[in-house]
Amino acid sequence: MNVYDSQILAGILQNAGYEQTHDPDLADLVLCNTCAIRHKAQEKAYSFLGRFAGTRIKKKGPLCIMAGCVAQKEKEKAFTRLPHLDLVLGTQAFGRFETHIKALAAGETRIVDIASSDDIFEGFSRDTPKNLLTGKNKVSRFVTIMQGCENFCTYCVVPYVRGKEKSREPSAIIEEIQGLAASGVREITLLGQNVNSYAGNNGQVSFADLLHLVSNVDGIKRIRFATSHPKDLSSDLIQAIKEIDKVCNHLHLPVQSGSSQILKRMNRKYDRDTYFTRISALRQACPDIALSTDIIVGFPGETISDFQQTMNLLDTVGFDAVFAFAYSARSFTPASKFSNQLDEQTKRDRLNTLLDFQEKITEKKNKAFVGRQVTVLVEGDSPKPRDGVVKKNEKTRQMFGRSDANKIVHFVSDKAAVGDLVTLEIMNAYPHSLWGEEVCKSD
Ligand code: 5AD
Ligand code: SF4
Repeated sequence: MNVYDSQILAGILQNAGYEQTHDPDLADLVLCNTCAIRHKAQEKAYSFLGRFAGTRIKKKGPLCIMAGCVAQKEKEKAFTRLPHLDLVLGTQAFGRFETHIKALAAGETRIVDIASSDDIFEGFSRDTPKNLLTGKNKVSRFVTIMQGCENFCTYCVVPYVRGKEKSREPSAIIEEIQGLAASGVREITLLGQNVNSYAGNNGQVSFADLLHLVSNVDGIKRIRFATSHPKDLSSDLIQAIKEIDKVCNHLHLPVQSGSSQILKRMNRKYDRDTYFTRISALRQACPDIALSTDIIVGFPGETISDFQQTMNLLDTVGFDAVFAFAYSARSFTPASKFSNQLDEQTKRDRLNTLLDFQEKITEKKNKAFVGRQVTVLVEGDSPKPRDGVVKKNEKTRQMFGRSDANKIVHFVSDKAAVGDLVTLEIMNAYPHSLWGEEVCKSD
């Protein structure tokens, strides 16, 4: 979501006459779009913007903007650590960004806009700056379908910085996707904090309905989405994943913990057994579906036995990918006030144990692809060609694409182009990618 939001902000700046540079010394304006989900992300934002304090205070350096969730959370407080900030732009203020840019150009400073908006989705341009139309971006793009969250998991700051759940109108979503398809985009990832509770057109269009609508857009070959809440994984949605060919055979379903006791204290509204039941229903409908999840280790009061239940859940489910995080106490959240907080060392140790364990599972999952055929959407040239595997031959290029199951597959080809769907036979598997040989180019 942040990548998508950053592209929108960059587009608005481009329309206001700015051009992107990666050299801060050349910049007239620096924008940092921020994430508040963990303390470390917030600190990175502060330290990045802090670099410009010296010059900006003397009115020599670039204009400095803090946007997004940390801006929304910190409000005027951002000036305590960053007195040189020119604009604090909250999560619902994109429609007013252009006006603020003009005000900054006219010499105004220290603007704070954390106000809410009736319409947080439209009212600003979504033109992507030309320099961002390269690589994966040319063929695979994000599209926001809803924003906000009302689940109030006890560890999570999102409901406080993104506000109530709001669904974007289906017609606006489809229009945006049609535009992207016309410009050559082949894959769309629908985004929302909890896409399953999408309720467009005054509640008449469900998420499963929306998947059908998107699948009717000509030119779009693949549909992905994130993120789903296990409590809302309905049989309608399972059916839609099964029925709609364009919907990828992959689901990201954050479980957070394998201990029912911890899940209860996280306010996740499901327990370990319910999660297993949902996974079984899903696998019954889509036997080969790839699964990924998010895990928080070291939640307040997590005992060694709770942690072992999480490890056991990973072992039982066999996820293709796991995004694991050490619990980080966040302002406003109930869990930050729970008395039994774990020390940093214990959290780090558990995180490393879990990551090592999962790496072996992921490798095993990847190895199971060897000998099978997969179709990838080609995203570009491999950043680091594997020496020894590719013969030095001017005609061959090492490229990579992503499979339906979201695996990165490298392969050699002299005819494949970015945006092609290419069928490959998997010859080798590595911890983070696969190696394939071209079978045919499909369409
Ligand atoms: N500490 C650690 N991880 C967190 N997440 C959300 N809040 C926190 C927190 N306070 C993780 C969850 C979520 C992912 C996006 O970030 O696993 O699914
Ligand atoms: Fe945060 Fe829970 Fe909402 Fe996800 S569902 S954004 S973890 S409150």
